[in-house]
Amino acid sequence: MKHFLAVSDYSSQEIQDLLDLAIRLKKEYFGRGNPPLLKGKVLGMIFQKPSLRTRVSFDMAMRHLSGDALYLSPNEIGLGKREAIADIARVLSGYVHAMMARVFDHAHILELAKWSSVPVVNGLSDYNHPCQAMADALTIQEKFGKGKKLNVTFVGDGNNVAVSLMHISAKLGWNFSIANPEDYDIRADAVTLAKKIAAETGSKLTFLRDPHEAVRSAHVIYTDTWTSMGQEEESVKREKVFPPYQVNARLVSEAEKDVIVMHCLPAHRNHELTDEVADGQHSVIFPQAHNRLHAEKAILARLFEVA
Ligand code: CP
Ligand code: NVA
Repeated sequence: MKHFLAVSDYSSQEIQDLLDLAIRLKKEYFGRGNPPLLKGKVLGMIFQKPSLRTRVSFDMAMRHLSGDALYLSPNEIGLGKREAIADIARVLSGYVHAMMARVFDHAHILELAKWSSVPVVNGLSDYNHPCQAMADALTIQEKFGKGKKLNVTFVGDGNNVAVSLMHISAKLGWNFSIANPEDYDIRADAVTLAKKIAAETGSKLTFLRDPHEAVRSAHVIYTDTWTSMGQEEESVKREKVFPPYQVNARLVSEAEKDVIVMHCLPAHRNHELTDEVADGQHSVIFPQAHNRLHAEKAILARLFEVA
């Protein structure tokens, strides 16, 4: 593993190994604490967009492993504006031992990785959110166990989070379905890639408009914001289109009895997810957010080749 840019870059076995490592590091952390695997290592964290979970979980992941993290805000770096990405990558490679970046344009993370001589981790782009997907899979396996044939359903916008969830579901052999409004489909190239993965793992992919049909026999219902970062000017239009896709108590009652409800957060409560469901018995949104920390420790330990 040189970089961590997309879950689709790894084999099913490599992903499962990472998840197993995350479980081991999590147990260890809550037991006698993690050993100083990343002592003396510094992660440079480049952000073009706001963040709570990604920023804090990566920072804490480094600290738990006795390393350090450096936060670089949008104003400081000016990725591709103040300075060419290729130059930033080559300069930072001499200062830090790995980079994590949250960018608008996926091409920018690819460009960073192309020019960087240290590992680059994708902390979200307009295309995908692979660290989120690792935490999601960890949460799902903690609830249902490994190697189960599960039905994972995404309800809402076919966005970056949906792409990574679809790819990791296909990698792990889970069936994936999505219900989204017309004009908000998952990108065609991501779907083509998912179909290729699914053909190898036996996972079934289903693309629907009707959320009620989609959640039938779902073990996991997943939703995300209707307006992602960078799409703010579309929010009025989106608020009109998406209400039929709200994850509410009625929709959840149509799924499997032990269904879990997931959201990458931040949630827009009573828009894509009602308070009743977010704080209800099926919700795992907070353990899911906490699992970012453990999944990311595993990713970092692998990239640094210390575990
Ligand atoms: N889920 C997630 O990536 O949250 P942040 O935007 O707060 O990092
Ligand atoms: N789809 C959301 C995820 C935030 C973590 C966004 O890109 O804004």
